[in-house]
Amino acid sequence: MQNSRIAVFASGQGSNFAALVAAQQAGKLGAGRIELLVSDKPEAPVAQRAEEAGVPALLLRPKDFASRELYEAEIVAELQRREIGLVVLAGYMRLISPVLLEPYTGRIINIHPSLLPAFPGKDAIGQALEYGVKLTGVTVHFVDGGMDTGPVIAQRSVAVEAVDTAETLAARIHHVEYGLYPEVVAAFAAGKVELDGRQVRIRD
Ligand code: GAR
Repeated sequence: MQNSRIAVFASGQGSNFAALVAAQQAGKLGAGRIELLVSDKPEAPVAQRAEEAGVPALLLRPKDFASRELYEAEIVAELQRREIGLVVLAGYMRLISPVLLEPYTGRIINIHPSLLPAFPGKDAIGQALEYGVKLTGVTVHFVDGGMDTGPVIAQRSVAVEAVDTAETLAARIHHVEYGLYPEVVAAFAAGKVELDGRQVRIRD
């Protein structure tokens, strides 16, 4: 498996997918190459973005499969066929089962719009506003079997302003995501991300 061969998984808008594609085109992913989009929502805008960018897409509806395991087995077969070495979750709104986790342990990363372990799960931005925190942000982490529980690779903070709405805060968080995720993907593609238990180090 090559660290530089990347599959992006997404379920929705795909703005992070687009930011990763733009980073690759700008030479900011280093050796990283986005070889595949995987989506569980064939009608989602991200599928259109992949087509426009010329990125092959695997679009599967989980409900067309008898079980989550069979759905993921089909994905794993495609990842292996394409020799994918890094799975980048970018707004992929499903938990990953051992069928995908086991062959890709330490090779699946996720981006989450909060400073984990605060506000895991759905609507992290709404949760942060509701709680009244003054600082939130973005986390990139390795994926394990839990909900946003894997080892933290990188975090960046975003201040919450008194006038913020979910929309204004989300816009600033997204902006930070578009910068941070390509940096981490480039570091992984270059073999610079080291995982030791829960500790993650990015070598210079
Ligand atoms: C991103 O903000 C990402 O952090 C979040 O979904 C959004 C996807 O936007 N992910 C999660 O909440 C994961 N728990 P996008 O489809 O425009 O990239």
